[in-house]
Amino acid sequence: MREISGMVMVWHGPAGEIPWEIEEPETGPGWRAMRLRTAVVRTHPQEMTENCVDIGHLIVLHGFDKVRVIDPFVTEGPRARMRYAFSTTIPLIGSIDTEIRILVDGLGFSVVETKAAGWQMRQLVVGTPINEREVVVRAWTSVRGRGNSPLTRILWRPVDAILDRVLSHEMFAQLIRDEVIWERKKYLNRPALGAGDGPISKFRVWCRQFYPDQTN
Ligand SMILES: [Fe+2]
Repeated sequence: MREISGMVMVWHGPAGEIPWEIEEPETGPGWRAMRLRTAVVRTHPQEMTENCVDIGHLIVLHGFDKVRVIDPFVTEGPRARMRYAFSTTIPLIGSIDTEIRILVDGLGFSVVETKAAGWQMRQLVVGTPINEREVVVRAWTSVRGRGNSPLTRILWRPVDAILDRVLSHEMFAQLIRDEVIWERKKYLNRPALGAGDGPISKFRVWCRQFYPDQTN
C-alpha cells in the first residue's frame, strides 16, 4: 500500500508480496487539482491496457490524424513505455499537434502524459476488477497551468481554469471511447494481426509475467 499522487494504491503479487514499486508521476509547480471520473466497463485489465499499443484504433476510433510512433513500445520488467504524435481536434479549439507518452505499470495502472500547443495534461488511469467480468475504470485528469513565475501563473489562471474543464472532459471522453472495443472484444490466443495493428504480439509476451501460474 502506498500513496501515489493523492491516491491510496493497494496491489500485490501472486504470493501476496509487493511485486514492484509503482513509479510516481513527476510533480512540479503549476499542476492543477486532479479531476476524477469513473465508469464500470465489461472488460479485463489486460484488454484495457492492450489498446495502448493498438495503433490502428487511434485513427479509426479516436479520430486522430497523422499518427506517428515517436518512441516504440519498450518494456522494462513490469513497466512499458511508448510515445506517439498526431493531430487532434479539440471542441472550441480546433486541430492541434499533440504528443502523448504512455507509461504503463503492470496491467492496472497507466499514465498518459499529453503535450499540445504549449499545454501539458496528464491522465492517470486505474482499472480495478470488481468481479470476473467488470472493471471499475478510474481516471484522474490534470492540466498544468501556464506561466513560469508566480505573477504569470496568476495571469494565466482564468485561461487555465477554462482549459482544465474542457481538456479533462475531452481526455475522459477519449478514454471511454475505447469502451466499444473493450466490451465487444474477444480474446484470441493467436490473433490474425495486420501490419497496422501495432506491437500487440510483443505486448502479450510482456503480459505473461503477470500470470506466473500459466504455462502458455
Ligand atoms: Fe483508445
